Amino acid sequence: MNHEQSENLGGGADIAFSYAPGKIILAGEHAVVYGSPAIAATLDRGVRIAVQLRKSDQKGPVLKASGLGFVGHVRPDPDGEGPEVLRKALTRLVELYGDRVCELELMVDSAIPAGRGLGSSAALSVAMIRGIHRFFGEYVSSEVVAELALALEKVFHGNPSGIDHTVISQGGLIWYKKESTDACVCKISPKRVMHFAVGLTGPHAGTKQAVQALRSRASRHEGLYQHIFAGISQIAAEMRLAITEGKLAAVGELMNLNQGYLNALAVSTPELEKLCTMARDKGALGAKLTGAGGGGAVIALVDDDPKPIVDAFAKAGYLSFATKCETE
Ligand code: MEV
Repeated sequence: MNHEQSENLGGGADIAFSYAPGKIILAGEHAVVYGSPAIAATLDRGVRIAVQLRKSDQKGPVLKASGLGFVGHVRPDPDGEGPEVLRKALTRLVELYGDRVCELELMVDSAIPAGRGLGSSAALSVAMIRGIHRFFGEYVSSEVVAELALALEKVFHGNPSGIDHTVISQGGLIWYKKESTDACVCKISPKRVMHFAVGLTGPHAGTKQAVQALRSRASRHEGLYQHIFAGISQIAAEMRLAITEGKLAAVGELMNLNQGYLNALAVSTPELEKLCTMARDKGALGAKLTGAGGGGAVIALVDDDPKPIVDAFAKAGYLSFATKCETE
């Protein structure tokens, strides 16, 4: 923990509020774990947290959850209530910050459907960190937020590439490439606003599991998988250019190509394919799964109005919403 890098702003608040958005990946998920570049953007919905001194006498930090795929109270107690991974994340929070966080209550309200590849755990991590620092009246740099968020993301996802918490802590649209010890991160400025329809299938089995299963498949045919990752790298590079030039038809075409590779990597499902086809039939410029796959969400890029596709997803019985990447 880098408290030395935190500047004390004096005081602290009775209650502090924080927010972090969810994310979508436009190109390069999974391949990014192996060093290929990827493109990600923040969603215009996220996790809100209110931090205050805990009212109960149970040692905390106490997380009061709503919308994390779980409603109730969670504490860093190995045998306590709530999902084990959340209890472990709170234990890690105590390791990172020390006993002072045991006095806190974190009221979480998440508008990001959990387990759908939309970055709910990374948003929770970033929002908790921002909220705790704000409560204690401490400035925290975005580098320190990212460092702490990675420590929490490791609890949720094992050994993540880092793309989720990076885009969520920086905001906007980014190019992300994992290097041996660090990452190359660049902001991308879209020339045109990009509108997406998002359709949700059931929750996936977990990012950690999806990444591990792919690693095991890849180890049996290393050369072939390297070929696929190289193809995805080229998609990301061409997409970056198309986004900055406002060539949305090309971005959509590249999303479709990326989806073909994701299917080849066996992280797509018949339901995700069905939603992609539905979106393309309804006029989407392109559609692909986003995140770890094996369930979760599909994003469909449209020229202007995402409503017909959002409605088509809803009519077919899938939760859906619209989101967009703004120009800067
Ligand atoms: C998950 O949002 C993205 C993956 O590429 C995993 C990772 O990058 O750590 C599947």
